[in-house]
Amino acid sequence: MRKVAVIGVGCTSFGEKWETSFRNLFVEAGALALEDAGLSGEQIDEMFVGNMSAGRFVEQEHVGALIADYAGLATNHIPSTRVEAACASGGLAFRQAVTAVASGMADIVVAAGVEKMTDVGTGVSVDALAGAADREWEGFAGATFPGLYAMIATDYMHRYGLTREQLAGVAVKNHRNGAKNPRAQFRSEITVDTVINSSLVADPLRLFDCSPITDGAAAVIVAPLERAREFTDTPIRVLGSGQATDTISLHDRRDICTLDATMVAGERAFHAAGVERTQIDMIEVHDCFTIAELCAIEDLGFCAKGQAGILTEEGVTALDGDLPVNPSGGLKACGHPVGATGIKQIYEIITQLRGEATGRQIDGEIGMTHNVGGTGATVVCHILGV
Ligand code: COA
Repeated sequence: MRKVAVIGVGCTSFGEKWETSFRNLFVEAGALALEDAGLSGEQIDEMFVGNMSAGRFVEQEHVGALIADYAGLATNHIPSTRVEAACASGGLAFRQAVTAVASGMADIVVAAGVEKMTDVGTGVSVDALAGAADREWEGFAGATFPGLYAMIATDYMHRYGLTREQLAGVAVKNHRNGAKNPRAQFRSEITVDTVINSSLVADPLRLFDCSPITDGAAAVIVAPLERAREFTDTPIRVLGSGQATDTISLHDRRDICTLDATMVAGERAFHAAGVERTQIDMIEVHDCFTIAELCAIEDLGFCAKGQAGILTEEGVTALDGDLPVNPSGGLKACGHPVGATGIKQIYEIITQLRGEATGRQIDGEIGMTHNVGGTGATVVCHILGV
C-alpha cells in the first residue's frame, strides 16, 4: 500500500445559506481545494462525495454525476461516486479516497462532502435524519435523533453522576471555539445558564445541547505521499484510518452509553498509524449532541468511562488544555451539514497542523477525527500528522 497525504483543502462557511444552491456549495468548496493545491480540474483522477440525503433535502439524487458535471469534470469522464453512511458520509468519502490512492488505482483524488438542509422545514429535516436510525423499530415509534441521544444522556447521567452543568460545559466550550472560527454557523460565546435555560428539545437535552440544521460543503484532495511536494510545501500525512459498524438500533446495543463502533474504529486507526493516545495533540469528535462528545472522548480511550464531563469541567478539552477537543467549534457551534461534517473535521485538523488556524491555533503534530453515522452504527476515524 502506498502512503497518502492531503495536498489541498477547501471549506465553505456553514449556516443557513439561502443565497447558494446545493451544487454551488460543492463547487465553492472544490474550487477552494483545487486553488489550495495549485491544481486544475483536468488533473483530478477520481472523486468521492459524501452526502446523506439530497433526495429528501433538495429532491436531487445521482449526486456523484451532478457534482462532477457542475465541477466542470463531466467531459473528462472521471469516476465520481456518492458515498452514504448518514452523518458519517464525509468521513467515509475520505476513507474511500485514501484507499483509492493507497491501492495505486488513482493518484489525485477529491474527497468531498455536501449537504443543504435548510430548504425544508425542521419537521422534514428531523424526519430525514431519523432515517439514519432504524425506521421500523425506532423512527416509526416516534424516536427522533434528539430523542435517541436523550436516552443515552439520561442513562449516562444516572450511572455516572454527570451533572447538568458538566453536560452544558461541552456546548460552552464548543461555542467558545466556534466564536474563533470564521466558517462557523454560531460565532457567539454562551454560558452554562444559556444552555440550561434554552428550550427543552428532548429531556434532558435542550436547544444548546443540539447541533443545528446546516448548509455547507468541504473538500480535500489526497495524493501519494511521494508526489505530495509537487503540489504543496505542507503535505499532511494520513497516518491511519479505521472504520467499524454496529447494530443500527440503539436498543440492540450491549450498552447504550458506549459506542462499540467508536472503540473499534478508533483502535483500528491507532493500530494502522502506530500512534499512542498520548501522542494525539487535538481531536475533532462527532458532538451531534453534548452527550456524544463525552462518550466519544471515553470510547476513543482518552479517559475512563464517566470521566469526560470532569475533564471538560477542568478545561482539559479546551483549546489551551492538554487534549483540545473540537477546535473548529464542533458540530454544535461550527454546524452540522450532515454529509459534509466528516470532511470539515479533516479540513480543521489539516488547518491546525499547517499552523493556519488563526485565533484558535493549537501547537501540535498529530490530530485525529471521529465521525459517527446514526447513533453509532457507522464510525470512521482518521489520524493525520505532519
Ligand atoms: N443551537 C443553538 N441555537 C440554535 C440551534 C442549535 N442547535 N438550532 C437553532 N438555533 C437557533 C436559531 O438560530 C434560531 O435563532 P434566532 O431565533 O435568534 O434566529 C432559533 O434557535 C430557532 O431556530 P429554528 O431553526 O426555528 O430551530 P428549530 O426549533 O426548528 O430546530 C432543533 C432546533 C434542535 C430541533 C434542530 O436544530 C435539530 O433538530 N437539531 C438536531 C439535528 C440532528 O439531529 N442532527 C443529526 C445528529 S446525528
